[in-house]
Amino acid sequence: MDSIVVTGNGPLEGEIPIAGAKNACLALMPATLLTDAPLTLTNAPRLSDIRTMTALLESLGVEVAALQGGQVLALSSHALDSERADYDIVRKMRASILVLGPLLARHGRAEVSLPGGCAIGARPVDLHLRALEAMGAELDLRDGYVHARAPGGLRGATFEFPLVSVGATENALMAATLARGTTVLKNAAREPEIVDLAHCLRRMGARIEGEGTSTITIEGVDALDSATHPVVADRIELGTFMLAPAIAGGSVECLGGRLDLVQAFVDKLAETGVEVTETERGLRVTRTNDRVRAANVVTEPFPGFPTDLQAQFMALMCIADGTAVLEERIFENRFMHAPELLRMGAQIEVHGGTATVTGVERLRGAPVMATDLRASVSLILAGLAAEGETLLSRVYHLDRGYERIEEKLRGCGARVERVRG
Ligand code: EPZ
Repeated sequence: MDSIVVTGNGPLEGEIPIAGAKNACLALMPATLLTDAPLTLTNAPRLSDIRTMTALLESLGVEVAALQGGQVLALSSHALDSERADYDIVRKMRASILVLGPLLARHGRAEVSLPGGCAIGARPVDLHLRALEAMGAELDLRDGYVHARAPGGLRGATFEFPLVSVGATENALMAATLARGTTVLKNAAREPEIVDLAHCLRRMGARIEGEGTSTITIEGVDALDSATHPVVADRIELGTFMLAPAIAGGSVECLGGRLDLVQAFVDKLAETGVEVTETERGLRVTRTNDRVRAANVVTEPFPGFPTDLQAQFMALMCIADGTAVLEERIFENRFMHAPELLRMGAQIEVHGGTATVTGVERLRGAPVMATDLRASVSLILAGLAAEGETLLSRVYHLDRGYERIEEKLRGCGARVERVRG
């Protein structure tokens, strides 16, 4: 198994291109199931999670061509021959549940394995199921699968999510595009990935209003058509790379970065004393002062501070001047990076959903590993500010969500090497 070696090497200078969003692309790809006409996604990220979604769609009979080195995905569901998403693939990636709504809406039936537990929390899918039931789906949970049917087709409904869920909003939104009549989704997620999905569906002929607000209204249509859609920039990759100069010092321009995707995060960086400016090509992040100031964070649904940047922000707080309280409100078990950061000399106390981090002057490199994607990358960031070598194993977590991370960081002067094993 590969590992990554990071050697703390002082300030970073340079530019980093930001790829298309993993989590947007994982929702856009299943939209192909809503139509026989081709769907082309440009600016797709080249990641193992995208290959897993490709494998899942192919197992249903979808034709997927990865063009231009994988940056363009040409999808076609005209020869769909299965409605069953098998456990073998679903267990690898929870986003697989996103085929449920589209399969049901277009084909009137679906069998999708339940995803099971996850390293960062229980992550049930009850809200996905309840929203589809409100649209007339008949669901039967047996043998670890959701067996779903909509004999006369789905029908529009008003459904209020009891809590904000990105995935459940995406599933319901896709399903509603082909339901008979009007669907109103209340307390819907407002994440940029939802907005991107709505834009793509609209290009395919769907009638949608209100994306980006908590009420989305969808007028069902008889059929969707072909479309070409560019995947929105990855705000989590953006935030992660913005933290690299914040942690190591220096100045880095993130190409394709947009303030509206990361405003709450940028507000926090400002509190720490890190400067962010808009440029013609993206966002420039500069740390000029010796040490950043501690800042408290509470994770929330968009437009709040994203849970997917909490681990990386903690790495910054490990070397901040003062004490920061980080409260994780989205997932119940998302501090697995804390014990690894402790091994690098950090001072962190975790009580339930709250981590108290007292900054130290210097971290020390150590062998570390993590059990999820964002936790893994937080350890790479910490390594940039550590004395000596940090050896990160279980790199396959990183490859799920960061394209060529070692190259991108090396381009700014960081010493980051992949060791094949
Ligand atoms: C998406 O997961 C992202 N994944 C996650 O990114 C991200 O952390 C999360 O949204 C929150 O922003 C993808 O888009 C593929 P949720 P999702 O449904 O949709 C609870 C990463 O690192 N809930 O918004 O699964 C759930 O347990 C990943 O890239 C229910 O109770 O998240 C959680 O506490 C990790 N019942 C909260 O809602 C449900 O049916 C929010 O989860 C669904 C969710």
